[in-house]
Amino acid sequence: MSNTATLKLEAIPVDKEVENLIRSSDKLSVGFGQTENVNYGPDPIGLDILPESTRQRLVESGIDISKGYPSRPDKSLVPVFLDEATAIRDDDYEYIERGKNADPEKKALFGAAKEVINLTKHVGTEIVGLQLEDLNDKQKDELALLVAERVVVFFRDQKLSPQKQLELGDYWGRAERHPQTSQVNGVPGVSVIWVDYYRKSYGLNLTFKNNALGNWDATKHTVRGPQVWHTDLVHEKRPSGITHLHLDAIPNVGGDTSWASGYAAYDKLSESFKKFLDGKKAVYVSAHGYLDRKNPFSGPKRIERVHPLVRTHPATGWKFLYVNRTMTKRILGVSSVESDLILNYLFEVYEKNADIQARFKWTPSSKPGYGTSAIWDNRVSQHSAAWDHEGNESRHGTRVTSLAEIPYFDPESKSQREDLGLSLDERDFF
Ligand SMILES: [Fe+2]
Repeated sequence: MSNTATLKLEAIPVDKEVENLIRSSDKLSVGFGQTENVNYGPDPIGLDILPESTRQRLVESGIDISKGYPSRPDKSLVPVFLDEATAIRDDDYEYIERGKNADPEKKALFGAAKEVINLTKHVGTEIVGLQLEDLNDKQKDELALLVAERVVVFFRDQKLSPQKQLELGDYWGRAERHPQTSQVNGVPGVSVIWVDYYRKSYGLNLTFKNNALGNWDATKHTVRGPQVWHTDLVHEKRPSGITHLHLDAIPNVGGDTSWASGYAAYDKLSESFKKFLDGKKAVYVSAHGYLDRKNPFSGPKRIERVHPLVRTHPATGWKFLYVNRTMTKRILGVSSVESDLILNYLFEVYEKNADIQARFKWTPSSKPGYGTSAIWDNRVSQHSAAWDHEGNESRHGTRVTSLAEIPYFDPESKSQREDLGLSLDERDFF
């Protein structure tokens, strides 16, 4: 190529041309991911399959679904390039860890509840007889601590509008407003979790045989929904903390969700391996992709962020293993082969130990317009949903994610079992 030709090419603002092309064409989508479709704004297609219980909740909450549901942000607002998407939440602000100074005995929360049921020894608690919308700040702080300790907390039979759900999320951190996924109309920050809609709107290919193949190798097999073990929003500068999924349409049987504890996954490791991992960092990627401004024709790339592999939780002070199969890409400071081997082992520690997991059976509420809430700490857990209902019964939910602190590792912090005085016996290792 002659110098003249090179100069001419460089003179064309390729990124702007590509952006204009994408934004002006009906056939081109902005943003790339497992839940992508080409609709922007309210989607009429969703109304065809909207469950009655969801419709009732939305209408009673004053959500306008006359033009369609759910809604994606307007195409002009969805970022095209990586640098724009990365910069969305790069600003500095003070994050308040609500659980940090809460009453460790949680008297205000437990005292008002009718019943407190632990699902397993260390993971999962259900609270009976309380409405989330009625909690006062003291109870919300105690709930934040309970979630941090127990990983996930459940509330059945809740009357909860999407707006109130967002308000709760903004109390526990800054609620994430996703730049491109489906949301409740007019309430950015309340994401819609609705696999039935992904199948209907853009033909997500989901079958009994393929729905969890990503659990083998998420880099080789398509991740087709929430069946694969994962953590939400790990690529953020401040990744997700408290996350609240409210299901307002639930199959009579099936669609359970499982959670696994990151405190316990860390404690499953030998003390010498823990020491090796302490202080290591890893690269975490986004679920959605964006174009590289300098090389837009190379296709979508995911946002990458570096965080500590072992983190310390600001409220409990416990160390936890921060990895997940779909979005932890590589460990820094070791070779790529070593990184793959170590990460695969760490993923399996999370996924294969039933004694560090809880499986929750969602049940439809007998009261119309009511739903069930799961509130978990995405820092200290992974989750996976079962698709055994195979879409034959509706499952629809709204999710609000509170972004937490900039991740850190405190070498002085303890593990959960160390702090609770539980056995770390290693006799079977040798
Ligand atoms: Fe998720």
